[in-house]
Order: sequence, then C-alpha cells, then structure tokens
Amino acid sequence: MALARGKFITLEGGEGAGKSTQLRLLADALRAQDIMVVTTREPGGSPGAEAIRTLLVEGAVERWDGVTEALLHFAARRDHLVKTVWPALERGAWVICDRFADSTLAYQGFGHGLDPKVIESLYRVAVGHFAPDLTLVMDLPVEKGLERAGLRGGAEDRYERMGLGFHQRLRQGFLGIAASNPMRCAVIDAAQTPVDVHKMVMATVRARLALP
Ligand code: TMP
Repeated sequence: MALARGKFITLEGGEGAGKSTQLRLLADALRAQDIMVVTTREPGGSPGAEAIRTLLVEGAVERWDGVTEALLHFAARRDHLVKTVWPALERGAWVICDRFADSTLAYQGFGHGLDPKVIESLYRVAVGHFAPDLTLVMDLPVEKGLERAGLRGGAEDRYERMGLGFHQRLRQGFLGIAASNPMRCAVIDAAQTPVDVHKMVMATVRARLALP
C-alpha cells in the first residue's frame, strides 16, 4: 500500500513573531503523535538554497533590485522543494517550513512594491500548482516584533534594518494574504506567551488538518 502524502505546513509573519519557537513546539507535538516530521526554513532548507540565503540575508539593504531579489528567493525555493520538501512529503512525512512564498508576496510585493503579478508568474514557474495545506500567519505589532528580533542579534539582519514603514506594510500584507486565502491560512495572535500561542497553533492544526 502506498504511503499517504504528508502535509505541508508553513509559518509566516514579520520579524520576531516567534515562528522558530512555534515551529519547534509544533514539531515536538506532532512527533509525540507518531507523525514523521521534517522541519525546514526559507530561504534555505537544502545546500543550494542555503548558499543563496547568504546572498539574501547579509550585506547592504540596497544590494538587490526587487526583481533580482524575488528571482533569488524563487531559485532557492525551487531547489528546496525539489531536494527537500517534495521527497519528504512523498515519504509520508509532514513538512513544517519557517516561511514560504507568502513571504515573497509580503516582503518583495507589499514591502518593496514589486508587482504581485510578477510574483505570481514566478510562483507558477518555480512551484507550479503546489501550495501549503495550512499556513499559520503569526501576527504581532511591528514595534514588538522588531524589539524581539533586535534582541536576537547576529549577522542576518539585512531585512530587520529596513524602515518601520516597510515592516508596517509587511504586517498589512500578511493579514491581506490571510484574508484572501481563508481556506489555507489562519491568523494567530503571536503577542501572547509562547505556551498560549502554541495552544492556538495546536487547536488550528487539529481543526484544519483532522488531527486526533
Ligand atoms: P528569517 O529571518 O525568518 O529566517 O528570514 C530571512 C529573511 O528573508 C526575513 O527577513 C524575511 C526574508 N524573506 C523575504 O524577503 N522573502 C522571502 O520569500 C522569504 C522566504 C524570506
């Protein structure tokens, strides 16, 4: 008997929304139910895509023009899907991914003003008709998110250094994406404690993906 294809869950949101913590907690909870889980991230998640990630998250804010940046994200995404995500889903694993294509629409589209039609065309080429089974949009006031992200430190701060207006457009962008795709997306209030956010995440996953 062929194994059932796994589920693809993506976590989205602005900087410092607590995606990585929630991803870990969700993965642990699913594994406790004997579900095979692969956790991954974008940009990155395969050796090729991790190499492209370095080009995207480090260096001067003005480093890339909008189209180039979107092309790099979709190049990384294609490699990640081909090498990591699709094989794992075929094996029956659930794949939980920290960011996916909604981030391109939010950051490069709403944030940098790239035409959403360009992003949609790139999506068709790189991803085809594949889409997440569930997208959790972690929503948080911008100032709070940037404060949390700032505390984290490190070299990967190119996007964090973009202005407050940029991050406000991002937040509205993510909320708009969720409103336009209500079957796929759920907005989670990420301002609560990690434990409370996790409870909401689990309730959503149970309700949307028929978990026991
Ligand atoms: P991370 O900090 O969540 O790992 O993500 C790295 C940065 O890349 C983050 O600031 C958001 C940005 N990004 C885009 O601008 N477009 C995309 O398509 C993705 C996946 C991430």
